[in-house]
Amino acid sequence: MNRKYRKTIIAGNWKMNKTPSETKEFMTALKGMLPRGRWCDIALCVPAVCIPAAVRAMRETRVGIGAENCNANPSGAYTGEIATNMLVDAGCKYVIIGHSERRAMGETNEDVNAKVLAALEAGLIPIMCCGETLEQRETGITSEWIAMQIKAGLKGVPEEKIRKIVIAYEPIWAIGTGRTATPEQAQEVCEEIRTVVRKLYSSKVARAVSILYGGSMNDKNAYELLAQPDIDGGLIGGASLVPEKFVKIIESANQNAE
Ligand code: PGA
Repeated sequence: MNRKYRKTIIAGNWKMNKTPSETKEFMTALKGMLPRGRWCDIALCVPAVCIPAAVRAMRETRVGIGAENCNANPSGAYTGEIATNMLVDAGCKYVIIGHSERRAMGETNEDVNAKVLAALEAGLIPIMCCGETLEQRETGITSEWIAMQIKAGLKGVPEEKIRKIVIAYEPIWAIGTGRTATPEQAQEVCEEIRTVVRKLYSSKVARAVSILYGGSMNDKNAYELLAQPDIDGGLIGGASLVPEKFVKIIESANQNAE
């Protein structure tokens, strides 16, 4: 983390978990436990049907609600899809884009790029995900793969908007597996991502972009991961479903700030 230049963000990704009623219960519990310090931004990205309950419950707090996906088109005949202006109107501040689970369902780098542009246009903060498979890591092509995903995802994003983007590095082999990247492995790739952003834009921009780590981050390993200079927060799946665990991760970000 480096609070002098960029925000620290602890973001939850609920995936396909919790109903609207369970959302209300979770948010009520979380509200009672949130640490007082304002050291980091907190986001919870929830299933679309849970957004209204989450927004209502967290209205008076500093927790921003987000979606887990969006469609790049402004409106039209896209049955089952949700446009960015709908998310804004529902009270969302964030949207996860290009999660590996969605890429596995067929989302391409071009789709990711179109969604990033649409989200920025609507005033949402995109949390753009990238990450390599175990096979790619073992063949030694992680750096090239990540650089390609970042360049493709940011295509056409003007310099004044890039500061609004959050990048999440999520090695696929670490997601939901309990196998976390070591702090050194995570730092190495997050630093490389910052270098890619620097080459695409400038040092000033690269210094200001928040880069999160995601993949089995939990209340036990968060402190060490967040202590790395280029890891500005976390995108947390499993551990964001339990208020006590999620709060402990927020507290880890706070401790690192002291
Ligand atoms: P996990 O998921 O924390 O359960 O590994 C992270 C993610 O997919 O964003």
